[in-house]
Amino acid sequence: MKKYFLIPLFSILNFLHLSAEEGMLIPSLIQAFEDDMRAMGMKLSAEDIYAVNHSSLKDAILHFGGGCTAELVSSQGLLLTNHHCGFSQIQSHSSLENDYLKYGFWAKNKKEELKNPGLTASRVVRIQEVTKDVLFGTKGMDKEEAMKKMEENIGKLIKDAMKGNHYIADVQAFNYGNQYFLIVKEKFLDIRLVGAPPSSIGKFGGDTDNWVWPRHTGDFSVFRVYVGKDNKPAEISDNNVPYQPIHYLPVSLKDRKPGEFTMVYGFPGTTEQHLSSEHLRFIMDKERPARIKMRDKSLSVINAAMRSSDALRIKYASKQARIANGWKKWIGQIGGLKTVNAIQIKLDRERRYNQMANTKPEWKNKYAGIIKEMNDLVKKYQDAEFGYSMAIEYLFVGPEIFKQARGLNRFLKNYENYKEAGTLEKEIENYKKGLEGFFKDYDANVDKQIFVLLTEEYVKQISKENLPDILKEKSAQELADKIYKKSILVNKERYFKFLDRLKKNSYKKLKKKDLGFIVWDKTFYTFVDKVLPDARAFTSKMNELLKIYVAGKMEMFPNDKHWPDANSTLRITYGKLEGSAPHDGMVYLEHTTLKGIIAKNNTGNPDYELLPRMKELAEKKEYGQYAQDGELWVCFTGSNHTTGGNSGSPVIDAEGNLMGLNFDRTWESTMSDFMFDTSRCRNITVDIHYVLWVMDVYAGAKHLVDEMTIVR
Ligand code: ARG
Ligand code: GLU
Repeated sequence: MKKYFLIPLFSILNFLHLSAEEGMLIPSLIQAFEDDMRAMGMKLSAEDIYAVNHSSLKDAILHFGGGCTAELVSSQGLLLTNHHCGFSQIQSHSSLENDYLKYGFWAKNKKEELKNPGLTASRVVRIQEVTKDVLFGTKGMDKEEAMKKMEENIGKLIKDAMKGNHYIADVQAFNYGNQYFLIVKEKFLDIRLVGAPPSSIGKFGGDTDNWVWPRHTGDFSVFRVYVGKDNKPAEISDNNVPYQPIHYLPVSLKDRKPGEFTMVYGFPGTTEQHLSSEHLRFIMDKERPARIKMRDKSLSVINAAMRSSDALRIKYASKQARIANGWKKWIGQIGGLKTVNAIQIKLDRERRYNQMANTKPEWKNKYAGIIKEMNDLVKKYQDAEFGYSMAIEYLFVGPEIFKQARGLNRFLKNYENYKEAGTLEKEIENYKKGLEGFFKDYDANVDKQIFVLLTEEYVKQISKENLPDILKEKSAQELADKIYKKSILVNKERYFKFLDRLKKNSYKKLKKKDLGFIVWDKTFYTFVDKVLPDARAFTSKMNELLKIYVAGKMEMFPNDKHWPDANSTLRITYGKLEGSAPHDGMVYLEHTTLKGIIAKNNTGNPDYELLPRMKELAEKKEYGQYAQDGELWVCFTGSNHTTGGNSGSPVIDAEGNLMGLNFDRTWESTMSDFMFDTSRCRNITVDIHYVLWVMDVYAGAKHLVDEMTIVR
């Protein structure tokens, strides 16, 4: 009787277990996964997904601004990405009179679309394995010679790939140098802003909901790619015309079904699946907790300041979001890794690896000692690794006075060059312009509090020999009291005066007299001298070991699914539209609806503020052609393995149509950067039903929807 009842339970767990798919796959090698994908419901062929000689899905996917993904959705170059990916463009076009952040922006016609100097988007033309060509002629060479030869080979490959065309080529290492791929791209230079929802839609839920399910964020913005009359990339110009894509994604307004096939096509940034047990232990027990603590402290100051006045809230909004995004992700990662007992899983995998290595003399030779070497290396270098991470937190994420010191240091190092070139005056003007922007969003009092807390913590955490004397001799408070009263770096008037009177010996004087600059100078160069060389040595030695370790995995376990860690190149991951059960006694459904937006708004949390129009439309249930069973889907989760950089990536259905835009993961799944867990890990997508509803019904920009190819 008991057994009988267990069967259905197990089959549910099994379903969750089997349906989620780990891995970020290289599009040009997708053929190998075609059968598996088709077994999961996909109707496309590998050639439909990636092809070089004819159009394929890949031609609709662009690397947006370097850090995000975007997709083409019309024959006129219309481009969709996340709101948080287009945020700085939306912000830069906003002013008090035209507050696009608050109220949204919709170009009524192409003339109203807004140019964005510096913003680019790149299409992958082809991806080609070139391992043999890179290694050509290196046999028998020592390490240094081989490196040189490889660089030469790579240079030649790149040059050949760029001959007679307007493309940009690069050769990138995969699997820690076990493989090399040539990647050829076409880079578009004129990307205009077409539309953005108000932040109360595009950022709905703010930090409260960031990394969290259930989610209701309309995280999208709309751009358009412009090109020269020959349909090729061209610098920004009024003469440019909308790009005619090789392929654009049709948009699916079909009803969604839990369990249906989903695929995410985009540019994931970094994953670290192969860390050794000791390395993961170091990260979980020491490095991440210390970094989290540094950010706890700066966030405690910033959050209090933002609550205290509207002016400070606006000044610190985007800095706060940046600091909190990593902070919250890390907390989720550690929680998840602990829950699944990731260290034990690593130890078990390492035992299996070593056992296999000991079954053949040849493997024993190459692989049996490698894990121990990796673990030993971590123990040997953890002080430097830790010092490196803490310096990032202190000097680069911490008090902003250090950012100013770094910038001024670079500027003054060029003093003679500018002088010689006769450009000094112009350079100073430009530098001042940058400072205007900086001080607009800067509050010295807030920065001072951050300086005190983070300096104390840095001094407490870092081993004494890696600290400059000045931090050992004086208390943080003592330093801060002097610095924030006198340093030029924290006060615009003093800073400008310094620049106006710039002389040959100003740099010297600054280094001698300005305590703020002195603290940065001493701390930074102590880090550069004492920590950085070891941290670099660690990374390069570890990468050499990882190369062997990964080669061993592929050679000894040919039937496991192998995939190269993310490296900001184009990848495919597939899974299903499905919920999850990451906590005992509860299940996350796979989708949310507009009703949930109103329910969250009713809590009174300012992160859930809405403009009146949303409430009106929700009340009237005015869902237009976008409803499913009388409800409007807003977001859904899927078992696709994604990471940072996948923001804006299209989530594609079995037939190659756009279902929505990836923009986040659930908190329980952020561990997937280290270890993918099939029952927990889910990506979060804003449903294209909701995106089009916002454009059409909410914002009255139906002309954009009309540009697209809708399938139902
Ligand atoms: N967590 C998402 C990502 O890693 C979204 C971040 C932007 N949203 C925010 N509330 N900070 O980029
Ligand atoms: N929001 C992330 C990004 O900007 C994607 C979420 C993730 O890390 O999975 O790329």
